[in-house]
Amino acid sequence: MKILIVGTGYVGLVTAVGLAELGHEVVAIDVDQSKINKLKKGILPFYEPDLKKIVLKNIRKKQLFFNNSLKNNLKNCQCIFICVGTPPKRDGAADLKDVRRVAYELGENMKEYKIIVNKSTVPVGTGQLIKKIVKKNYSGDFAVISCPEFLREGRAVWDFFHPDRIIIGGEDDKAIATIINLFKKIKTKKIKTTLETAELVKYASNAFLTTKISFINEIANLCEKVGADVEEVAFSMGLDKRIGPSFLKAGIGYGGSCFPKDVRALKQLAGGHGYKFRLLKSVIEVNRHQRRVIIKKIKEIFPKIKNKKVAILGLAFKDNTDDIRESAAIEIIKILKSQGAKISVYDPQAMANAKKILNSKINYCLNPYEACRAAQLLIIATEWPQFKNLNWQRIKRLMKNDIILDGKNLLDKGKMLKMRFRYIGVGR
Ligand code: UDX
Repeated sequence: MKILIVGTGYVGLVTAVGLAELGHEVVAIDVDQSKINKLKKGILPFYEPDLKKIVLKNIRKKQLFFNNSLKNNLKNCQCIFICVGTPPKRDGAADLKDVRRVAYELGENMKEYKIIVNKSTVPVGTGQLIKKIVKKNYSGDFAVISCPEFLREGRAVWDFFHPDRIIIGGEDDKAIATIINLFKKIKTKKIKTTLETAELVKYASNAFLTTKISFINEIANLCEKVGADVEEVAFSMGLDKRIGPSFLKAGIGYGGSCFPKDVRALKQLAGGHGYKFRLLKSVIEVNRHQRRVIIKKIKEIFPKIKNKKVAILGLAFKDNTDDIRESAAIEIIKILKSQGAKISVYDPQAMANAKKILNSKINYCLNPYEACRAAQLLIIATEWPQFKNLNWQRIKRLMKNDIILDGKNLLDKGKMLKMRFRYIGVGR
């Protein structure tokens, strides 16, 4: 099938290349001409493991094309995936400006039956809104489907081909069957439902995952008071099949482009419908508090941080990505910097993005060892797995003090204590 993808961000690009790899002919468009020019040459706008390889492969195979015109490509495509951003507005509600614009442009240019699939994360009711906007300029038959995306950054390609489920919401049975068929090579549960239910599944899933994280962070804080170890508590909790082991990692709170925005958007959505979602208010508050917990710990070590040399390993909001949006590391750096600390940083992928938003008085290092040289405190701020296997004896020799503040509970506490580091984790 010929497919048009609108938007080449994380969701759009991964969906485009994933569908191309499944054998469909895909054109991905974006309003950003320079981005399209780069994509045509296989230059990606962000780092994502394995993505570049399959983008290049599908460009070569003529399965994947990049362009900037919706109008010129619409005629040949039966199915259009909307994958544009829905950033938060001031009040936390999702900004649907781009979704509206695409729907309008579709309506203006449609001449025959099309299936419009929305993959952008949107409030309930957006599918109906898209219909209404299209109908302003097009009176023929068409279908709107909601197919929310659950991919994780850093594991996006894997997630496309191995999803836990594919949700397909809509009112047109023929269109639903077509979309199910589009993904037929992917062996997973395909759930048919209504537009509204599909739209809510996405927000509900992300909000539930953040609830798990905020819950375990509260348990971690309690662990510190009662002398328990949150890693062991989480492990034993996770053995209960009703709870499960994932998303029970305590630390400095969740970040990224989705979780903070989606939880706030769901809270706003509920409020807009006259329902006060009390739990989500707490989830957000706990996450904010968790960032302060780490600053408090730093203050306990150094009541005056001015001129202290602090090494920070990790800038991305999590491992395997160069994304620094809502990253705890960046927030911590800004606070420490404002109090006069001397900061050295290292991240395997996110340095270039960090440089764009942090001031230049930060020492960007070529490797973790350079960052740790003469440091009086080392903070682990991102769960990059390679940080676990650093030459810790060497780091101990390089540092001035031997204090590690492990904001992600990444390191083996026993091993660190055996090496005579002063190790401080979260809830351990
Ligand atoms: C998330 C959802 O997982 C995905 O389904 C959705 O499509 C987009 O949002 P992503 O933002 O890529 O994906 O990251 P994820 O791996 O879920 O982690 C989000 C944040 O939570 C990170 O800051 C991570 O460090 C933190 N986290 C995750 C924890 O603090 N503890 C955990 O146990 C898990």
